[in-house]
Amino acid sequence: MIWIIGCNGMLGREVSELFQKNKIPFIGTDIECDITDISALAEFAKDKNIKWIINCSAYTNVDKSEEEEPKAYSINASGAANIAQTASLIGAKLIHISTDYVFNGKGNSPYKESDAKQPLGAYGRTKSAGEDFVAEKTDKYFIIRTAWLYGKNGNNFVHTMLRLFAEKDSLNVVVDQKGTPTWAGTLASLLMTIIQTDSDKYGIYHCTDEGETTWFDFACAIQEYAFDAGLISKKIPINPVSSSEYPTKTERPKYSVLSKEKIKNEFSFIPRSWDAVLNDYIKVRPKSV
Ligand SMILES: NC(=O)c1ccc[n+]([C@@H]2O[C@H](COP(=O)([O-])OP(=O)(O)OC[C@H]3O[C@@H](n4cnc5c(N)ncnc54)[C@H](OP(=O)(O)O)[C@@H]3O)[C@@H](O)[C@H]2O)c1
Repeated sequence: MIWIIGCNGMLGREVSELFQKNKIPFIGTDIECDITDISALAEFAKDKNIKWIINCSAYTNVDKSEEEEPKAYSINASGAANIAQTASLIGAKLIHISTDYVFNGKGNSPYKESDAKQPLGAYGRTKSAGEDFVAEKTDKYFIIRTAWLYGKNGNNFVHTMLRLFAEKDSLNVVVDQKGTPTWAGTLASLLMTIIQTDSDKYGIYHCTDEGETTWFDFACAIQEYAFDAGLISKKIPINPVSSSEYPTKTERPKYSVLSKEKIKNEFSFIPRSWDAVLNDYIKVRPKSV
C-alpha cells in the first residue's frame, strides 16, 4: 500500500488524482493525522502493509515562517523526522518533497543535488533541517527538491496572476529573480515513475519543468496564454521591477534553477519546457480560476 501524507495540499491532491486515474491504490491523510505526533503516525501505519510513503505535507507559508519558525520547524523538520522514523520502523520506502529554498540563490548555473546548502530564511532552514533528519532516520529515502510549483488545487502564482489581471489596470512583477515554473502534475508523474519501477535508487533529486525564466516573464506568459485561451478578456501592462522595489519578509533566492540531469539519467524522466506545460495547463483551466 502507498500512503500519501498531506493529500489535501496542492501537490498531494495532484498526486492523489494521478494515482486514481492510473488505478494505483493508495491511502491519504492530511491534518487529521498530525505529522508532529509520531504516535499518531505509528498508530495509522499499523496493519496497513505500507510499502511507500509520500510526504507532501509541509508548512509552506514562506513569509509567515519568519514569525512562526518554531511552528514551521515542528512540521518541516520534526514532522519529516517523525515520518522518516515511522518509514524505517515499518520498512517502507519514503519520498520526501523539498525545495530550492535550501540554496542561497547566489549561483548562476543550475544547482546540482550535491551543491552546498545555505538557506536564506526560516522556511528554507526548516526544510533543510527536514532533509537532514530524513537522511539520518532512514536509509530508504528519496528527497525530491522542486521549485515555483503551481497546480489547480492550491494558491499559487498562476492563479494569483489570473485574478490580478481581472482586478487591476497594471501590475509590477519582479524581474531579477530566476527560476523554473513547475506544474505539480510534472512532479506527480516523477513520483509515479519512481513507485511503479519500485526504485531503490535512493538519494536526493531535483525535479522542475525545463528551462528558466523570471517572475516577470512568467507573468507575461500567463497573460498571453490566458488571453489566447479566452480566460481573460483584456490585457494589462505588466511592468518589470527589481526585488528591492518589492520587499518581502523572507529574502528570495535570486537564482534557483535546479539541474535535472540526475532524474534524466536515473529515471529516464525528461521534463517538458515550462512554457509549453503552462500553455497546456491554461488551455484546460475552467473560467472560474
Ligand atoms: N508551493 C511551492 O511553490 C513549492 C515550491 C517548492 C517546494 N515545495 C514543497 O512541495 C511540497 C508540497 O507543497 P504544496 O504547495 O503542495 O503545500 P500545501 O498546499 O501547503 O500542502 C501541504 C499540506 O500539508 C498539510 N499539513 C500541514 N501541517 C500538517 C501536519 N502537522 N500534519 C499533517 N498535514 C499537515 C496542510 O494542511 P493545512 O493546509 O491545513 O495546513 C496541507 O494540506 C512541500 O514539501 C513544499 O515545501 C512547494
